[in-house]
Amino acid sequence: MSRVAVFGAGYVGLVTGACFADLGHEVVVRDVLPDRIDALRRGEVPIFEPGLDELLARNAERLTFTLDVAEAVRDAEFLYVAVGTPPTYSGDADLSAVWTVVDELQGVEQPAVVVMKSTVPVGTGAKVRHRLDERGLTHIGYASNPEFTAEGTAIRDFRHPDRIVIGAFDLVDGDAVEELHRGIEGPIVRCDVASAEMIKLAANAALMTRISFINEIANVCEATGADVVRVAEGVGLDRRIGPSFLRAGIGYGGSCFPKDSLALKQLAANSGYHFQLLNAVIEVNELQKRRVIGKLKQHLGSLRGKSVALLGLAFKPNTDDTREAPSLVLAGRLVAEGADVRAWDPVADGRAILPQATIHDSPLEALDGADAAVLVTEWPELVELDWAEAARRMRNALLVDGRNLLDPEELRSAGFAYEGIGRAAG
Ligand code: UGA
Repeated sequence: MSRVAVFGAGYVGLVTGACFADLGHEVVVRDVLPDRIDALRRGEVPIFEPGLDELLARNAERLTFTLDVAEAVRDAEFLYVAVGTPPTYSGDADLSAVWTVVDELQGVEQPAVVVMKSTVPVGTGAKVRHRLDERGLTHIGYASNPEFTAEGTAIRDFRHPDRIVIGAFDLVDGDAVEELHRGIEGPIVRCDVASAEMIKLAANAALMTRISFINEIANVCEATGADVVRVAEGVGLDRRIGPSFLRAGIGYGGSCFPKDSLALKQLAANSGYHFQLLNAVIEVNELQKRRVIGKLKQHLGSLRGKSVALLGLAFKPNTDDTREAPSLVLAGRLVAEGADVRAWDPVADGRAILPQATIHDSPLEALDGADAAVLVTEWPELVELDWAEAARRMRNALLVDGRNLLDPEELRSAGFAYEGIGRAAG
């Protein structure tokens, strides 16, 4: 069994650490946030990720949390980097946290492999390798092992990956990282570091492209009377196309797609290439979030003084993450239109992110007296909701279902004016 240091106790670092501990490895997770480390030591999990609390508790004896670099790297064979790489003003990835970790490795005396889990621009591995060499750390290897887990299903994705990608400069480092994953079934892709870095960015770009594609098809469906749900089903059954990531809606959000699309666009641009398709994907997504406002206006006219309930704030269900969530853009646009915004989410902290909105503890409370509702996140609670009761409570029973979650006919018989995305208006 190996000793693994994980830098970064966020969504990626904690899932990585917990899953490696579950495979039997000794794991030390290091973060710079004292509150976060204290909470983890007390057994509290600072993020909402299904199954993570149970996995951390079950492997507590193999998991340590620390603020101290020296403690983290002591005897470590693998130095996993799982820190954030948010976009900078220019759209390039901000690698300052990555460089801080690399600079902290000066005291590592034993042979070890730095493994990059954070999403980084192509070429980062070569730069890290150069810096390690410059500092005399030639006994430290380098591998890129990008992360493909999605929030909400991260543990399942880690344990049952579609593939494990390992890019290394040295065969032995790649072999070591492969061995570390023993016990996880899944195809292994071994390649050079730059290709591993690009696989990550290209995979996310492909997924975003599918979403923007189906969203544009949805918009044409609206203009022509077709139903995008049926269209996606019929298109997705083609084995060459496949059914996933063809759910039309109000656009993608989250901590990855928006940031990674900008980073790839910028990476291409910095290299002198204009990535037209990706630019279109990004633009379609921005417009898609805003189309909801048009739908509301078609029914209500001016939104000034109208009360609009946002159902769901997280960028997708089963997470408390609201980074780049469509709800934020919607709330901002509604406020700019003079509407009164109220909202509900079962886990996301609405009060922290939407100070301009009134936050309610249940969907029915949020809908009480509202002029319109927008279903923003497809939380299971919303499938179960008593929509006939909701219609009675609203001042005006209008629902824009931004995720095509509900059955239009059922909603209409419950008394709603129902609008989906890419579905014929009833
Ligand atoms: C995404 C990728 O799916 C992961 O493989 C990757 O590891 C991760 O980014 C990352 O780079 O870290 P995540 O952002 O957690 O994972 O969530 P997704 O399930 O991919 O959803 C992203 C967004 O796309 C959500 O806002 C979701 O509502 C939207 N989406 C997804 C659609 O609008 N339609 C779809 O058909 C699918």
